[in-house]
Amino acid sequence: MALQNENVVWHPHAVTRADRESQHGHKGAVLWFTGLSGSGKSTVAGALEQALHALGVSTYLLDGDNVRHGLCQDLGFNDDDRRENIRRVGEVAKLMVDAGLVVLTAFISPHRAEREMVRELLGKAPFLEVFIDTPLAICEARDPKGLYKKARAGELKNFTGIDSVYQLPQAADVHLDGEQLVTHLVAQLLDVLRHHAIINP
Ligand code: ADX
Repeated sequence: MALQNENVVWHPHAVTRADRESQHGHKGAVLWFTGLSGSGKSTVAGALEQALHALGVSTYLLDGDNVRHGLCQDLGFNDDDRRENIRRVGEVAKLMVDAGLVVLTAFISPHRAEREMVRELLGKAPFLEVFIDTPLAICEARDPKGLYKKARAGELKNFTGIDSVYQLPQAADVHLDGEQLVTHLVAQLLDVLRHHAIINP
């Protein structure tokens, strides 16, 4: 989908990412949460955003279900649509990092290739892949939206973990045990952000 136009020229604007970051008082970065539906991505990312907000960090949370109500409302769940979903979100996250924000994304993002594509898209900007490792059986028992039940009944096709693949991260930057308390996971992630000098100690 690379539409290159030789008549469109990049315009370097005067205010830079570094300027915006110094105004915010922290670095721009992406924390890319990946995991099965029901693994806790949105819950943990939401709790982390609250904690960061309380610390005065400028954030934005891009959430799969929410983004599919607008920017990606034309996309379904076959492999091509999921790829396009992640590509769009990656581009939006890149702009938000340029704005100096700490961007949290919560998408199943089941394919390794797409997660790597976003990492490359971000270039030198910090990109941390956060794997919320929650066994399928636990996600299915939680089933907060009743979707696993529908998928098992054959009423929902291409459901991740049932009849659609989830490729396990092989080298996630952060590997979280999705059965731990949310407060514990948030504390772990704040440490990671401090360790990478994204936020201040
Ligand atoms: S992704 O695979 O393209 O990254 P995304 O995170 O945007 O998925 O959307 C996942 C959410 O859509 C799930 O949390 C679930 O609520 C809902 N959903 C609806 N149909 C499916 C499906 N076939 N597979 C996975 N999630 C689905």
